[in-house]
Amino acid sequence: MDWISFYDFKHSVIYVNGRHRDVHYETIARDIRALVPSPDAIVMDYGCGEATSAALVADACRHLTLVEAAPNVRAALRERYASNAKITVMTPDEAATTAPGTVDMIVLHSVAQYLNPAELAAMMATFRRLLKPNGTFVLGDIVPPQLASVWAALSLLRFGAANGFFWAAVGGLIRILLSDYFTLKKTHGLSHYTEAEMLTTLRAAGFTPARAQHNIGHNQHRMTFLSKPQ
Ligand SMILES: C[S@@+](CC[C@H](N)C(=O)[O-])C[C@H]1O[C@@H](n2cnc3c(N)ncnc32)[C@H](O)[C@@H]1O
Repeated sequence: MDWISFYDFKHSVIYVNGRHRDVHYETIARDIRALVPSPDAIVMDYGCGEATSAALVADACRHLTLVEAAPNVRAALRERYASNAKITVMTPDEAATTAPGTVDMIVLHSVAQYLNPAELAAMMATFRRLLKPNGTFVLGDIVPPQLASVWAALSLLRFGAANGFFWAAVGGLIRILLSDYFTLKKTHGLSHYTEAEMLTTLRAAGFTPARAQHNIGHNQHRMTFLSKPQ
């Protein structure tokens, strides 16, 4: 098993219940929507997951492309958004064939930790090619090295308490401890970056980056970077 099949698993342990999943995606969609540069913008959400609130983002831009590597997740997205003319669902290979220099904003949120540095560099090169010269690359949920699991657990409990699923979050944390997550973490690893390391990585990929004050989503111990092509 790799990270993509972990996320493709039909009974994923990632969301503690349906309410957690929906509040999670609504929070992310509202944060992404706030970054859309204009109602005319072409936006790509790469590694979007179940994206149950993507219509909120699509409403604020001209077109939204949802890119997802996991086949079952992608099939569910296609079904969910079949009647929304502003949303297209693509595989990563299909997204890579988008005409160069045509996208206003590309979001990669909570994906970089599952990639090794070479995979992330290859993805950034694709984004650099697809973005308009004044486009924006939004890189969210970058996990710093210190106490990542502890902060993730505490942030989930706080998110649960604020949104009516605290005890489900406690149960979910126990389920995740018993799941493949930690085995996968050992075999495939999770990538962590300090702020300085990620700024260097983004500059090496041809971007002028800045750390955003707010991380997209509920975990403010992680970081979001907003970058322009150099
Ligand atoms: C934690 S989910 C993030 C989903 C969504 N962006 C969010 O923030 O909730 C991680 C996503 O990364 C995707 N992913 C993992 N490895 C990938 C890879 N090598 N290429 C593309 N996507 C990948 C998974 O399919 C999954 O949808």
